Amino acid sequence: TRSPAQRLGTVWLRKKGPREIVALQAECPHLGCSVQLDRDARRFACPCHESFFDLEGKQTSGPSPRGMDALETRVTADGDVEVKFERFRTQTRDRVELG
Ligand code: FES
Repeated sequence: TRSPAQRLGTVWLRKKGPREIVALQAECPHLGCSVQLDRDARRFACPCHESFFDLEGKQTSGPSPRGMDALETRVTADGDVEVKFERFRTQTRDRVELG
């Protein structure tokens, strides 16, 4: 599904290599608050209940039941980044896609 010019949600993108982009769903797996980048501490932080994640999205502390959800990405020949945007159930240890 393509959804140009339609806001689906928020992701964090991080360049990992010349053509490698990591996308992390910005909704916290705990209760869905928006995870923020703490640039100084070089980590992601959820302001609602203080879950913290490293730059790879791995949970380091807090009540979140899992790390940030990584999303599939693709860099096109034009250099655009395409993200397969998905949402997952909160409060579960395993990723469960929402339909
Ligand atoms: Fe993120 Fe609770 S919603 S820690």
